[in-house]
This record gives sequence, C-alpha cells and structure tokens, in this order.
Amino acid sequence: MTANAGFPQAHTGGYEPDVYDQLVQDTQNIIARYPQARSALLPMLHLVQSIDGFVSRRGIQFCAEQLGMTAAEVSAVATFYTQYKRKPNGDYTVGVCTNTLCAMMGGDAIYEELSEHLGIGHDETTEDGKVTLERVECNAACDFAPVVMVNWEFFDNQTPDTARTLVDELRLGNDVTPTRGPSKVCDFKHVSRVLAGFPDGLADEGPSAGEASVQGTQWAKNHQAPHSQHPDTAAETQGTPRDGEPHTGDEGSSAERPTGAGTPTTDDGKDLT
Ligand code: FES
Repeated sequence: MTANAGFPQAHTGGYEPDVYDQLVQDTQNIIARYPQARSALLPMLHLVQSIDGFVSRRGIQFCAEQLGMTAAEVSAVATFYTQYKRKPNGDYTVGVCTNTLCAMMGGDAIYEELSEHLGIGHDETTEDGKVTLERVECNAACDFAPVVMVNWEFFDNQTPDTARTLVDELRLGNDVTPTRGPSKVCDFKHVSRVLAGFPDGLADEGPSAGEASVQGTQWAKNHQAPHSQHPDTAAETQGTPRDGEPHTGDEGSSAERPTGAGTPTTDDGKDLT
C-alpha cells in the first residue's frame, strides 16, 4: 500500500504561483499559533480543502513540506477524521443524523428520502457537484431531532419533505437559512477556510441555542433549583463555604438570608425541603 492509498490522482501537480504564495502566507499565520509546527496540521488540512475542495494529493505534499512531516504522516491524520474529504466534495455537505434519537424521530426516513431523491448514497456527490450526502453521527442537537446539517449548520426538526426542499434549493443555487447560526449557509470551500482559522465574521450571527436547549436552565432559574447553581456556589448551600466566605450562622451567610431564596419548590409553590 502506498502512502497516498485511497486518494485519487487528481491535483498531483503543484499550485499556481499566486495560490501557492497565499497558501504559504496563510500557513505561516496558522503555524504561529502553535508551539510546534506539526500541531498546525488540522487547520492546514482545512486550508487545503478551502482551495481544492478536498484533501488533494498536492495538498498533502504541501502540508508535509511546510510542517516537516512525511506525506504518510499527513495522510494518516487526514484519513482519520470524517471532516477531511478524500475525494472532491460537493459545494454542500448534507449530513443526516441517523444516530439513535434522530433515527427514531425520523432521521432514517429522511436519509432514505434524500438518497432516493438525489440518486446517491453515503459519501457520494450529485453529478452537478452541488450536494454530498452523508449519514452523520450525533450532532449534540438531540433536542431538535431529527437534525440535518448543511456544511455543519443546523436544520432542526426536519421531515423528509423539508429535507427534500432543502436540497432542491441548494441545487438551484438559492440561499438557505439554518435554524440557528448565520442567515445563510456558505459553501464548502468558504467554510473550510473558516475552519482553518480565518473567521468570516459570521460566527456570532443568529441564535446559538434554540428554545428546547434552554428550557431546563430557564426552569431552574425560575424555580431557583439547587442544580441551577454553579458547583462553586452550590458548595455554600451544602455547608462548605469557600475560602474567605462566611460560615453558616455568621453574619451574611446563607442561613442569615431571608428564607425562600434557594429553596426548591414545586410548580404550585410547595416547599420541597
Ligand atoms: S442523535 Fe441526532 S443530534 Fe443527537
């Protein structure tokens, strides 16, 4: 087996001079963030994807040269993580979560619908180069199951119909708006550059947490439940004051404060203590 087994023979030549110069400049920027150059490999692989649309053979060679590694070492890392693509990726990676909860809530049905509608299977790309379909593992968004990701932006509470409309819009070149995050989904190369550590200014755009995610916190806040407290402050409630803070019975201690605050109650106001 060769060092680049699994990678197609595209992009075997070097980069065009202006592209190469920009890559070198970006590489120096990335390497400067780490104590050792080789630590820059993960963002470097995203950088390569921002130019080639996947981790190309020339990209592997470039990373190896810049970081003082062998092509085999770079390939070993690139083939480990699913975010690094081993063949040209579509403009939009459409990832359908088919992990346990999403699968039960309809993720499997969404995947089957998209696969049939697009005529492609897992890790395959439509002929127009627009959409790469993937089954993905849990996106830590189970409270919005079933979830579909487009270039790692969330589309919550999907159905086979909404997911089909979503990919149709992408293939028509229309902007699509994630449930959370920025107002539109950028293409794969653009997002790859952001993941390489070159912000596009959109990171703080739009809501980051949906209503379902904050309901527990909100309930705890409204009811002043003990578990709403940070461990540091919870220690006081449990009779273990932090350094320099009053002990139970001292003036200013929680025992001297009006009752009610910090007392867990039911919805109808009954004291649970
Ligand atoms: S199972 Fe789909 S987001 Fe967790």
